[in-house]
Amino acid sequence: MPSIYKKDFPFFKNNKSLIYFDSAATSQKPLSVIDAECGFYLKHNSNIKRGSYDLAEAATDMFESAREAVADFIGAKPSEVVFNSGSTEGLNTVAGILRPLLKSGDEIIVSGMEHHSNLLPWLELAKSKNIKVKYVFPKDPDLVFMATDFLSEVTGKTRVIVFAGASNFTGNKVATSEIKKITDLAEEKNIFTVFDASQYVQHEVVNFRKMNVDFLSFSGHKLYAPMGTGVLAIKQEKHSQISPVKFGGEMVKRVRMKDVIYEDFPYILEGGTPNVSGAIALAAALKYLKSKGVKGIMKYEKELLAYLLSSLKKVKGVDIYGSKAIKDKIPLVSFNIKGLHAHDVGYFLNQKKIAVRVGEHCVGLAHEYLCIPSSVRVSLSLYNSKEEIDKLVRALSTLVG
Ligand code: ALA
Repeated sequence: MPSIYKKDFPFFKNNKSLIYFDSAATSQKPLSVIDAECGFYLKHNSNIKRGSYDLAEAATDMFESAREAVADFIGAKPSEVVFNSGSTEGLNTVAGILRPLLKSGDEIIVSGMEHHSNLLPWLELAKSKNIKVKYVFPKDPDLVFMATDFLSEVTGKTRVIVFAGASNFTGNKVATSEIKKITDLAEEKNIFTVFDASQYVQHEVVNFRKMNVDFLSFSGHKLYAPMGTGVLAIKQEKHSQISPVKFGGEMVKRVRMKDVIYEDFPYILEGGTPNVSGAIALAAALKYLKSKGVKGIMKYEKELLAYLLSSLKKVKGVDIYGSKAIKDKIPLVSFNIKGLHAHDVGYFLNQKKIAVRVGEHCVGLAHEYLCIPSSVRVSLSLYNSKEEIDKLVRALSTLVG
């Protein structure tokens, strides 16, 4: 039986025989999201915050309503929500914000399981300011992070702790209680916390305020919204320490030869024309999820994950990375098959019209840590089904013989 959600995604009507297991790279989009994006250009296109005519004011209102929808979805205030082009921009922005606040000799603790977008900005920042980056790997054999993994590395010099809610390689997530332990101690010690929610927000409930992180970043395109959309949430209590990092129109209140007065939050970090249609479509994606029921979707995804894990066990020679416990994971599994190169597995599955990601998944450090050149990744979403998993497992079983 196909997923009850699949019919909402026109992509599958145009790709009838494809099995799409790469939603961690980007999700497909429901029709309501595509309509919202097109609808903006068909009916409302004008720049925002600049025009004093009805059309421009309506577009501005739509953009700000989208901000309110995002704020509501993640439990933040609208003034804490900055729109951008995606998590890579968001995390680079955080590194830019923190640059003047850090000094030579400071330390940044970074999870060694990070995606490159949440690693390279920190390495570059560290290089340019003589800051030490301390990599942290999970002590747990199943690679599940506990708060102590990070907190035991904290010294008087630690200024930033960087980690992801869920790994795009193992699918392991950090338990909410552990997140809180990290952020509470960091707050006490005046350490900034940076939380990459790129693989987390589409599968778990996010409550920005309760999680108590300072910076939370995610991309819209993995959350059923268009590419080129993203959100950086910044805790209000940190706003007074933050200077803009991107300069241009609409992030400034007044420019005179003698002085320049920048905008308030969140506009101060949104210089230039934003992706208005994208933000509106992101709000449509959130509306879609709410209308279908977030809890029901999460339950369905967990059922699929359990089925995938138990089905993969039947394939000879499969070695799964990360935890095999549902409670520890988002619906994503990476593995290798003994004697086969991940790229050969991907090539074979592609011939069977099954799309998976193979390689390092932009998580070079984690692959180095495990001493593996690459892996096969299956990432599930609400439009997948058990029948699709059966087809995957049948194909893999044929391959191993
Ligand atoms: N970060 C995306 C992934 O994990 C592209 O595939």
